[in-house]
Amino acid sequence: MVYLDNNATTPLDPAVVDKMVWFLREHFGNPSSLYPIGRQVKEMINEAREHVAKSLGANKSEIYFTGSGTEADNQAILGVLEAIPDKREFVTSAIEHPAVQETAIYLERKGYKVTYVPVDRAGLIDLDFLRDAVTPQTALISIMYANNEIGTIQPIDEVVGIARDKGVLVHTDAVQAFGKIDFRIDRLGVDLLSVSSHKIYGPKGVGALFVRKGTPLLPFLHGGHQERGLRPGTENSIGIVGFGEAARVLPEKFEADRTRIQHLAERLGRGIEKKVPKVRLNGHPERRIKSTLNYSFLGLEAEAILLSLATKEIYVSTGSACSSESEEVSHVLLAIGLRPEIARSTVRMSLGRFNTDQDIDIVLKELPDIVEKLRKISAFDPEDN
Ligand SMILES: Cc1ncc(COP(=O)(O)O)c(C=O)c1O
Repeated sequence: MVYLDNNATTPLDPAVVDKMVWFLREHFGNPSSLYPIGRQVKEMINEAREHVAKSLGANKSEIYFTGSGTEADNQAILGVLEAIPDKREFVTSAIEHPAVQETAIYLERKGYKVTYVPVDRAGLIDLDFLRDAVTPQTALISIMYANNEIGTIQPIDEVVGIARDKGVLVHTDAVQAFGKIDFRIDRLGVDLLSVSSHKIYGPKGVGALFVRKGTPLLPFLHGGHQERGLRPGTENSIGIVGFGEAARVLPEKFEADRTRIQHLAERLGRGIEKKVPKVRLNGHPERRIKSTLNYSFLGLEAEAILLSLATKEIYVSTGSACSSESEEVSHVLLAIGLRPEIARSTVRMSLGRFNTDQDIDIVLKELPDIVEKLRKISAFDPEDN
C-alpha cells in the first residue's frame, strides 16, 4: 500500500501504539478518583499535557484536551463570543476547514455579523481586507495556519499584528501546521490555537486547545470539573496518553522528518510535472506545507483518478477528507479562483513520516498510465482550459 493521504489522518507511530497498548492493559482508573489507580491516570494525563505544551511552545496550564480538532475550533470560537457578549462580529477566512466555516455559518444564523476574508490565487489572505474588516465590534479573528487542501501557510504573525493594533483576540486552527511547521506559540502571539492528535501520528478522537492565560472564554459543554471546567466529561485517558506520546516523540523526529518528506514530495512533484501533461499545482509555490501536493489534472474527474489509483493500492484524496463524501466542489479551490470543472479534476497527495522513495517510484510508474488511459476515454478536451 502507498498511503498518500496524511492530511486526512496519519498512521499511529509505533511508540504511540506501544504506549497505548500498555496503558489499556494497566490503567482503567477514573482520573477523578482520589485513590492511587485514579491518581496515576490523572498524572499521566498531566504528563501528556506537558508533552503537548512543550511541542507547541506553550505552558501546560494553557493546554486543554478536547474530543477533536473540530471541538477545539468550536470551543475557541463559541467560547470567546459567549464570554464577550457585547461584541457581535467575527472575522474568518474564505478557506477555513468546515470545523471553523460551519461554526461561522452557525453564528450568522444566530445573528452575528461574519466577515470572510478572501484569498488570492495562491491561497493567501488579503491582509488589507482583514485590516478593514476588523471593527470595534469584532470579538475574534480566526484564520487557519496552514490549509488542509492546498497547504498554503498564512502570515499569522501579521494577523496577530493587526489584531493587537485593534485590540481583538486571535484564534488559529493549527491542525495541519502542527508537526509540519516549526512554530512556537509563545512567539506566534495568538490567543487561542487548535491542534488534533491524529494528524501527528497519534490516535483519533482527541485534540487540544491552547488558551493564553487571561483570555475570556466560557465552556460550551456543561458538567463536571474535568479540564478545569472547560471540557467537562470523563477524560478520554487512552486517547490523551496516546496524543501525549505522539507529541513527545515529535520534536525528536521533526527535523529529519521534514527534510526527508520534503525531498520525497519534491521528487513526486517533479516527476508528475515531467511525466503527466496538463497538470497544474494549486496553492502557494513557496509558502506551502511542502508535504501537500494538490494537482488539477485538466479534463479529468478527480474521483476517476482516485479510484484507479486505489485499485493499485495507492491512496490519495479529492479535496479534503471531511468533504469527500459530499458532491459539492471544494470551497477552497473555488476561493482561489478555480473554475468548478477544474476544481473537480483536483487530487491531493499528502506525504508523511512513513512514506519512502519506493512509494514515490510506484506512484510515478502508475499515475502517468492511469491519467493517459482516462484521458483517452474522456470526452473533455484539456485544450479547452
Ligand atoms: C485544518 C483542519 N482543521 C480541523 C480539522 C478537524 O480535526 P479533527 O479531525 O480532529 O476533528 C482538520 C481535519 O482534517 C483539519 O485539517
